[in-house]
Amino acid sequence: MNIKEEYIKFFESKNHDFLEPVSLVPDDDSTLFTSAGIQQLVPYMVNEEIHPEGTRLTNYQKCLRLTDIDNIGDSYHHTFFEMLGNWSMDDYFKQEVIQMSYEFLISVLKLDPNRLAVSVFAGGEDLPRDDEAAQIWESLGIPKSRIAYLGYDDNWWPSVHEKGPCGSDTEMFYFRSEDSVPKDFDPSDDRWVEIWNNVFIQFYRDDNMNLVPLKRRYIDTGMGVERMTSILNHLNDNYESDLFKFSIEIIEKYSQKKYEDHKKNMRIIADHIRAISMICFDDQNIIPSNKDRGYVLRRLIRRLIIASNKLEVQDFGNYIDQLVNEVVLQFKDFYPGIEKEQDRVVVIILEEYNKFNKILKSGKKRIQKAIDVLKENSLSKMDASIIFRLYETYGIPFDLTYSMLSEQGISYDTSEVDSLFEQHRIHSKKSSTMFGSGLSKTKKITQ
Ligand code: SER
Repeated sequence: MNIKEEYIKFFESKNHDFLEPVSLVPDDDSTLFTSAGIQQLVPYMVNEEIHPEGTRLTNYQKCLRLTDIDNIGDSYHHTFFEMLGNWSMDDYFKQEVIQMSYEFLISVLKLDPNRLAVSVFAGGEDLPRDDEAAQIWESLGIPKSRIAYLGYDDNWWPSVHEKGPCGSDTEMFYFRSEDSVPKDFDPSDDRWVEIWNNVFIQFYRDDNMNLVPLKRRYIDTGMGVERMTSILNHLNDNYESDLFKFSIEIIEKYSQKKYEDHKKNMRIIADHIRAISMICFDDQNIIPSNKDRGYVLRRLIRRLIIASNKLEVQDFGNYIDQLVNEVVLQFKDFYPGIEKEQDRVVVIILEEYNKFNKILKSGKKRIQKAIDVLKENSLSKMDASIIFRLYETYGIPFDLTYSMLSEQGISYDTSEVDSLFEQHRIHSKKSSTMFGSGLSKTKKITQ
């Protein structure tokens, strides 16, 4: 079963029109990368309009989120991912969207209803608890013990600190474990994984952070393809699914090591090669640099190189060629034309590899020297200013320094380094970088 095809087919049968996915790289500078399916619809919501394509829309959307980059290496975080979504532009609302979500999960994907749980908005800031959503879930057969009420931190989208269209949401969870399913839903138990989100957009958070009701009501939903694919394949690890396992096989072959023993580094590579390739496929002008999108690309490539070096990968050129080819094979039916870009992407990565290896060679020696000085003085924490100086003066990436420090039991404070980095940015008047939900989220890139 191809989850993307099933999703679109299902929502088309419910009178939704297919909305062309947009580029991963927006053509304006409001955000660095597309990070949610809703992003291209936000301007319509801001202006309280419907969409020229219709009031019921659906698609799959390439997304990139960098907020979790340091968590890549566990079984379910990704930088690049695809999001399935359906939208109501002042058409259906809670009753219908919840009903359709349930029908898709149970009748199309054939998930076991006994493994489902939901969270709904608990209320707050003058807004009541969302008993309506809870009642709809109950009418579909979800027992009270499987409904959790959570506040703004969990059941509001986007975060309360962001301006723009927003609203409470209801989230669906699936019990992904071999253990027997507990009667009660405990959202803090990570065997319950979030699989889908229905957002009820009814408000606009204005410049003063006040909630102003919108004249129209919108529905926005988001389901991660990677997570749902692993659930359908009865796996507890997204990286064991068909979406990643061929890349992992290539990494195993060129490193002569087993996934079982080197999960973290292999996951970083399998994740980052998709992000790197998809960014380059979507925009011919992005090359590794020290600014904005180019900086993100550089960071992803360098993290991939560091992980590959740790695995002692051989024959780097062919290895990269095969990995990029795997990304092409996986996505070419959905994003036609990417196969023509394969060689260009390989060259970009290899050029960065050559540059970076020179920095690494001398960098490792310099980091070791700094560590030796600490040890001679019986110190166990490296000062942020030293880590920053290594970066600023010699271009030594923070990731490399952090990794050598961790290996040798030396502590460090990344937030202190981040703040030095930020001061430096402000000082050198470099342009600020933005990415996030596509609304107004601003995040700094620290490495
Ligand atoms: N926009 C919401 C999210 O990003 C649901 O699609 O989670």
